[in-house]
Amino acid sequence: MTRPDYAEKIPNNVGLAEDRRLQRALESWQPDFLSWWESMGPTLPTQDVYLRTATDVRGEGWATFGHVPMIDYRWGIFLADRDPDRRVAFGAHKGDPAWQKVPGEYRAELQRLIVIQGDTEPASVEQQRNLGATAPSLYDLRNLFQVNVEEGRHLWAMVYLLHAYFGREGREEAGELLHRNSGSVDSPRILGAFNEETPDWLSFYMFTYFTDRDGKYQLGTLKESAFDPLSRTCEFMLKEEAHHMMVGTTGVDRVVERTAQVMVENDTDDVTALGAIPLPVIQKYLNFHYSVSLDLFGGETSTNVANYYTAGLKGRWLEERRKDDHLLGDDSIMVDALREGEIGQVEVSALTGLNTDLRREYIADCAGGVKRWNRILEVAGLPQRLYLPHVAFNRRVGAFASIEASPAGERLTASEWEARKGQWLPTDTDKTFVRSLMQPVYQRGKIAAWVAPPRNGINGQPFDYEYVHLA
Ligand SMILES: [Fe+2]
Ligand SMILES: [Fe+2]
Repeated sequence: MTRPDYAEKIPNNVGLAEDRRLQRALESWQPDFLSWWESMGPTLPTQDVYLRTATDVRGEGWATFGHVPMIDYRWGIFLADRDPDRRVAFGAHKGDPAWQKVPGEYRAELQRLIVIQGDTEPASVEQQRNLGATAPSLYDLRNLFQVNVEEGRHLWAMVYLLHAYFGREGREEAGELLHRNSGSVDSPRILGAFNEETPDWLSFYMFTYFTDRDGKYQLGTLKESAFDPLSRTCEFMLKEEAHHMMVGTTGVDRVVERTAQVMVENDTDDVTALGAIPLPVIQKYLNFHYSVSLDLFGGETSTNVANYYTAGLKGRWLEERRKDDHLLGDDSIMVDALREGEIGQVEVSALTGLNTDLRREYIADCAGGVKRWNRILEVAGLPQRLYLPHVAFNRRVGAFASIEASPAGERLTASEWEARKGQWLPTDTDKTFVRSLMQPVYQRGKIAAWVAPPRNGINGQPFDYEYVHLA
């Protein structure tokens, strides 16, 4: 069974109609989800939005596009097709048939992994809830809402697993996912970056580039899981994530493009008075979002993650393409570390260094974005370049959490850091300036002055398409 059933109250391709108990449990969670969406979701009133909805899980035509009132969006449960021959690709259970049920011995760990992933999905909706009020175009507004409804669906994906496989505890955790809130003092979201604000659209593009990309890598490791329903869930989520990456990548492209254009036309680096975002401010936003996203990968070494790997719960990025024994018992890896107080590296076992392995894949991917943004500057004939700051810069988690370093990786004292951090991270003045540019543009085909229009519209529609009907 692969095609989602849309006649159901909860669209799904998991045969929910045949499991009455589970169906009832999820149907009783559904109104809580909807009231969470109403109170914590997008604040801008709209009639409808040109959204894609998953209608199949494979092939090109997996989604259908149309104008829908957001509250009527069909959030559903979609898993990628089951491969009946799938086998565990790594760890102590390598070669065994993939698990269709949760083994008792790994129950607590699997539940924890699912809760942590699940917690990030609604968090980003909460972080982005006020952005509609300052959208630079209807096209951008639509993309924001598309990302929001799909993060809501990703919450559904995790809640399904909790309900279907983790009994009463799972149902309780599903409830908690709606009770924690981003930035809340009493019950914040689990991970730091998901309690930060996303107050403006430059932050939104940086978030979807750097922080959603962290999500892509985390989902990539869960897609390798021996627990097959988790693997299939993540596989389909990754398909949706591709659009979120596109929003971030092309969003930053368009900001850089517009800034470069204003710099060239006016032969100046200081574009502040001309209504564009200066390159040093773009760099500061990049520095911030990149460094907090690196924190999401956890410490450089982790015995928990080593155990998850050996148990088969969580693999490596593209596990099956790795040319090694997929056990890693004898291998080693160099990881970042403080050596006698200085920034350096140490050798550890490959298993304990798995967080570093994943983070390296992520960093290489992020470098691709910087390369494309620098290409835009190069084509414009400008000498300036953007860069990724050093891994020790602005870290709150891992080997360098206890020290301060410049983006170039030079070690700083606390007072040097205090004196200079405003050169590298957005200051209140920068944030106020960026916010001052955030005036909404809701006319068809029009766009704010600080960002270039996109090269392509959505689903073959032109840029001046009526992507959103405001209320
Ligand atoms: Fe997501
Ligand atoms: Fe996402």
